[in-house]
This record gives sequence, C-alpha cells and structure tokens, in this order.
Amino acid sequence: MTAPNPIAVTGAPLLRVEHLTMRFGGLVAVNDVSFTALNREITAIIGPNGAGKTTLFNCLTGFYSPTVGRLTLRHPDGREFLLERMPGYVISQKAAVARTFQNIRLFSGMSILENLLVAQHNKLQRASAWSIAGLLGLPGYRRAEKEAIDLASYWLDRVKLLEYADWQAGNLPYGAQRRLEIARAMCTEPVLLCLDEPAAGLNPRESAELSELLRFIRDEHKIGVLLIEHDMSVVMTISDHVVVLDYGRKIADGTPEVVKNDPAVIRAYLGEEEDEELPEIVARDLGVDGSEGHRTGEGT
Ligand SMILES: Nc1ncnc2c1ncn2[C@@H]1O[C@H](COP(=O)(O)OP(=O)(O)O)[C@@H](O)[C@H]1O
Ligand SMILES: [Mg+2]
Repeated sequence: MTAPNPIAVTGAPLLRVEHLTMRFGGLVAVNDVSFTALNREITAIIGPNGAGKTTLFNCLTGFYSPTVGRLTLRHPDGREFLLERMPGYVISQKAAVARTFQNIRLFSGMSILENLLVAQHNKLQRASAWSIAGLLGLPGYRRAEKEAIDLASYWLDRVKLLEYADWQAGNLPYGAQRRLEIARAMCTEPVLLCLDEPAAGLNPRESAELSELLRFIRDEHKIGVLLIEHDMSVVMTISDHVVVLDYGRKIADGTPEVVKNDPAVIRAYLGEEEDEELPEIVARDLGVDGSEGHRTGEGT
C-alpha cells in the first residue's frame, strides 16, 4: 500500500457537493446543484428567499436525506465521509460538521456555560465510560470535564460573553444569542461550520464583529465555513467564494467580485422585469456601486 500523496490530500476540497437534488412531492427545492468548498475558506451560499439554501444545509447535516446526489466531506487528515448516507448525529459527531439555525435554537432555560457544555456531551460521555467513571469522579473524567470548561471559556471569551457565563441563555439580547450559537457550534470542534443567516437581525456594528469572528475562525482555527447570508456587506467582504442559488438551481459560482457583476445574479435579485439599470437599492445590496451594502432581511 502506498502512503497518501500529501499534495493530493491537502489539495482535495473539504466538501464536494455533486448533483444534489431534494424534492418535496412535486417541488424541487434543490435542483442538481454541484460545487466545492475548500478548507480555510469561507464559502457563501446566497440567493433570494426560497432558493433552497436552508434545504441544502438540511441535506448536508442529515436533517433530510437527499433525493439524488453525493456529498463528500474530506477531513484534512484524508478521511472521507459520505454525508448523504449518514444520520444527523453521526454527521455532527464523527464527520465533525456543526451548524447554526436560521431561527436561533439554544437551550434558553440553561445558563450560557451549560449550553456550551451540553454541546460537548459526547466527549464527556466517552470520558465518563457512560457514567461509572463520572460518578466515581475518576481523574480521566475530571480532566475531560476541565477541558470542556476550558474550551467553553475560550469561546465565550472570543464571542465576548465570558462575563455572562452564568446568565440564562434566553435572557440574552438577540445579537448575543447569535454569537452564543456560534460559540456552541465551535465547542464541538468542527472541520466544517455551517451558518444559516448569522447576521439576520444584527445591527451594523454587530455585523462587523461577526465578520471579524468568522475571519478569526477561518484563519486561526483553519476550518471551512459555509455561510448562508443575506447581508451583502458581510458576504462580499469576508467570502473567498460565493455560490448563488435561484429556484433551487446554481446560477453562479466564483469570487465575490465575479459573482456580484454576473448578469444572472443581478437578474435573480431583481426579478424578471428589470430595466437595464439597477435600482439603487439593489445595486447597494450586491455592493455593485462599491458602497457598504444593505440588509434585505428575511422573514423565516
Ligand atoms: N420540509 C419541507 N417540505 C416542503 N417544502 C419545503 C420544505 N423545506 C423547504 N421547502 C420548500 O423548499 C423551497 C426552498 O426552501 P428553503 O431551502 O428554506 O429556501 P431558502 O433557505 O433559500 O430561503 C421553498 O419553496 C420551501 O417552501
Ligand atoms: Mg433559509
């Protein structure tokens, strides 16, 4: 047997989506979509409401079993996982894919710290040998418990919530809950982090801080990030790669610069009857006029 070629291992994409299709009865929510996402890159998935972005995440994370398609995750160590065949809990535990939700899903009755420890329960459960060592307070378990608290504290510090560790999660302001969700996902030590509209409902300062945090996660933790986002000021400034969906199909794929000038993308955001010239508000959304961008916001 030959050793894996290190260049091939590092050069292969972290995620390969091939011909992904998801049907709900007669509705094709995701229609033959293929793209790749690289490690240490932020890949944005954008598109109008109902384009199939969340459905794509649901297929990737095992909430839905795709009608057609292959989803290959390749860890930096060369191990491959075929996500379309795996149940959700295996995807999060073994394939190390973490996600946040469009509608925040925290344990609102628990403290902030508890939310981050629950995220690490698999590690703790293993260390407890399914609770015997845990009950006896054996050193292996105590060490695992300390490591879990250390990791939680590290991420609480990164998302500026360390001093609120005892607060009940449900009592946090909205923007802080969004940051806590990201901290919770990072506590599972993912190789791929999937974020569904993390900037929704944030003010411009919070959006800028979010961009900073996502850059930090990409550059310092060296993982891949998939980012569904409507806030073009976030997408266009931090993404390495943008994939555009419309009515379930991929209509563009490339650098932010290329994608925002793509006529098909501009058309998708405008609807069918656009004039030659972009209305100012849409040009701003796409960042075409070079200004800061503007949030469209979304209901669900
Ligand atoms: N569980 C489901 N059952 C039926 N239709 C669904 C389901 N989930 C999503 N859809 C439909 O699939 C399409 C894509 O939805 P979604 O992926 O949520 O879009 P986006 O996140 O891009 O706004 C929509 O038409 C939506 O109504
Ligand atoms: Mg969505």
